Parts: sequence; C-alpha cells; structure tokens
Amino acid sequence: MPRSAPPARPAPLALLLAGILTAGVLTGCDGGVHGTPGGSGLRDPYFPKMGNGGYDVTHYALDLAYAPDTGRLSGTATLTARATQDLTAFDLDLDGLDVEKVTVDGAGARWNRAGHELTVRPHDDLDEGRVFRVTVRYSGTPRTITDPDGSEEGWLPTDDGAVALGEPTGSMAWFPGNHHPSDKASYDLTITVPEGLEAVSNGELTAQRTADGRTTSAWHTAEPMASYLATLAIGDYDIQRSTTSSGLPLYTAVDPAEAAASRTVLARIPEVLAWEEKTFGPYPFSSAGAIVDREGDAGYALETQNRPFFPGAPDTATLVHELAHQWYGDSVSPRTWRDMWLNEGFATYGEWLWEEEHGGDSAQQTFDEVYAHGEDDDVWSFPPAEPSSAAHISDSPVYVRGAMVLHRIRQTVGDAAFAGLLRGWAAAHRHGTADTADFTAYVEKSAPDKDFGPIWDDWLYGDGKPAEPGS
Ligand code: TRP
Ligand code: ZN
Repeated sequence: MPRSAPPARPAPLALLLAGILTAGVLTGCDGGVHGTPGGSGLRDPYFPKMGNGGYDVTHYALDLAYAPDTGRLSGTATLTARATQDLTAFDLDLDGLDVEKVTVDGAGARWNRAGHELTVRPHDDLDEGRVFRVTVRYSGTPRTITDPDGSEEGWLPTDDGAVALGEPTGSMAWFPGNHHPSDKASYDLTITVPEGLEAVSNGELTAQRTADGRTTSAWHTAEPMASYLATLAIGDYDIQRSTTSSGLPLYTAVDPAEAAASRTVLARIPEVLAWEEKTFGPYPFSSAGAIVDREGDAGYALETQNRPFFPGAPDTATLVHELAHQWYGDSVSPRTWRDMWLNEGFATYGEWLWEEEHGGDSAQQTFDEVYAHGEDDDVWSFPPAEPSSAAHISDSPVYVRGAMVLHRIRQTVGDAAFAGLLRGWAAAHRHGTADTADFTAYVEKSAPDKDFGPIWDDWLYGDGKPAEPGS
C-alpha cells in the first residue's frame, strides 16, 4: 500500500501523551492534542463503515480526467467541510485508486490507507466549527464494486467509456468523500475526456471547451446531493437539450444504439414531470433529464440526481419511478440505509398513482392484487422499515410493501388528506434527510384524530403478512 508518511492514527506514545495532557498533568500547553480523530464510520445499521465522523462536507469540487483506452482516471478532489468536533485526524472513504498527495488548507497532510478508509492527519488540528478544505490528488483504474446483493456499482466500464453509479456504496470507487446519504453537499465536477466523447453528470453543464484533442466539461450541482446519487457517464451519446414549458432545462444523453427505442418515452419527461409536480409539489432541482446507456453491467436504473440513469430505453413506469425519486430519495434523502423504503415505497407508489390516473389499475386494485400473494411470498419476507440485512435493502418488501404502507395511510386519511401528505412530506424535508420516525411523526401530526398504530405495527415494522385491512 503506497503511503507518503507515517500512519495518521496516533501512535501509542501520542495516545499516552494525549492522556497525560487531558488528565491535566501538563496544562497551559496548546500542543494541539486536545482533539481526537473523527470516527471511521457513521454506524449505519447496514453499512457501518460508510461515511465518517467529525465533519460535514458542504461542497465537492472534483477535477477529473478519464482515458477510456487505458481505463485510467486521474484528478483532484477538493472537499470543503466543517469540523463538528476538535479533530486531530479524519477519514474519507475511497476504495482503490492511488493517492498521490493530500493537503488541508493548503498545507501538506499525512495520510494512511486501510481498506476503504483514507485517514488524513492535517498539519494542524482543526477546531470544532472550523471550515477547512482538503484536497486529494489521486489516479488509477477505478473498480467495480459488487454490492451485498450481488449487483454491480461503482465504476462500470462500457464499450465506449464508463458509467459511475453509487447506490449504496459505489461512489467511493471514483472519488474520496463522506460517502453516506446523511451528509449532502453541492458539487462542481470538471471532467476531461478525449475529443469526440461526451461526459455527462448531475446538475447543469456550465462550460465546455476542446483543446489539444481533449474536451473538458464543467457540471454544477447547486442543490444538496447525497454522494450515492452522483454520476458520471462517459461515451458516445446523442445529446438533446430543451426547456419545459415551465422553464426547466432538460438534458438527455442517449447511447446511439438506444436512441430509436428511447425517443418516444423520453419525449414524455415534461409530461411526467408536470404530473409529478401536480402530485408531489414543485420539482426540487434546477434541471432534469436522463442518461440512457446500453444494457451494461448495471442492468438496473438509478435515480442519479437531476438525470436518472437507465440501462437501455426505459418503459414509462420506470421513467415515472426514477423521476419520482427526485422528490423522494434525492431531495428528501434517507438518513440511513435502513430508511430505503422512504425512497422505494414512495417511488413505487408514484407508479401506482400514475397508473390510476392514466387509465390503468387503481392503487387499490394494485394493493389488492399484491395482498392476494400467499404468506410465503417474498413481499412479506421482512418489514419494510427493517430490512433483514444489507443484501436485502432493494428487495420487494422495501418497494412494494413500502408502497402498501402508503396506501394504508391513504385508506385511513382519505384521498384529499393523502394528497396533501405526499406534497407536505416532500416540502417538510426538501433538500434534507429524514428517517422512518420522522415520517411516522409527520403522518400522526397531520391527522391527529386517526390511529396509525396498527399500520406501523403490522405494515411498517411487523413480521409476516399483515392481517386483512379492516378485518
Ligand atoms: N434505487 C434503484 C431504483 O429502484 C434501484 C437500485 C439500484 C438499488 N441499485 C441499488 C436499490 C442498490 C438499493 C441498493 O430506482
Ligand atoms: Zn427506486
């Protein structure tokens, strides 16, 4: 493992000294050991080592270059963060790649790597509340990460470039960061690729220039983004830019092989967004669109912010689902990976509502059809708010039974109040994070005369198939 300097973790002697100092044996000394290292994980119930303690990132500036012929990524990540405790050291999450240099506020910092923890020991301690800048210069061949459920994420090479997908842990394969959804930040991403290729990310394209056979594109994401929603798609794409009738800029990037199959469905983006704004409230971001590549390693769609990713031309239901995530998941993000059903239950219910209002089955019919599934059906295998393990956070209870929870709430409060609740929840945590307890409290407060206890007990937290509603 390459290393520029001694380990950042305090050596036993330093620990001993720190102990002596805090014990007050030596006083009046500002030797800079009053802080402690930030934690190496946020103790997420499913991904305990993801994210880090001791600081909050407010901005990522990623300045990257990619060479598809060699598969090599190089660049500098500059994070602006605020210390939430006195820090002697802090961690970033980075999986693979070679770190070449780390600075904190311009001064060279010592650093060390262990697994996906990159521990940075700044030259000077950082006081609680201090806003600091850490830069990491790095390069290498980014890796594809296999999720606990066996799906592939991180950096996915394609036949003409690569796509970066980050749910739940893949973003650490291509940039160092505080990779947990509870720490959202704005982004500026600058990406240089060989001339003739496109490089598409989140937010808006603010500059593009070609020189010496290389094209550099600058993408700006102003609204807070969880790092798992960051994307980068490099390759040959048909680019379409337009503006909706309400003035929202759209940018779609489609693999030429998928262009014909995608045209009709992507032309519905303005219509889907207009319906979702009516149903969920104002669109939370300053641009929208889609990225469609060829069926690659991913094989799944992802609600990458502003611009969901599709592994081939999507059907309308999938488009509705990924765009619904812009409200539920991207704007209102899960506080931990246990809260996934707040993403997937809402996006799935969005599909049900779309069906209901576009000549298909009513949500009640869809609910009834799922409810008819036998007791050993997968949909009852665990409660949506408590997935059985990290390997199951994208299983059907999270999606379908999560949507059923919302339908049970709708049955309890009525259509009009439920419509208000969908919009109200998106508004209450717009651009923030929320957990299941926030949600149940929100619902209870919005309808204080109703008893939601049985819904929470049986549908949200209960094991097995819930008893027939109303029986
Ligand atoms: N969130 C994606 C969707 O339903 C699906 C997905 C992709 C996913 N990768 C995942 C869910 C990893 C959980 C974990 O739109
Ligand atoms: Zn989803």
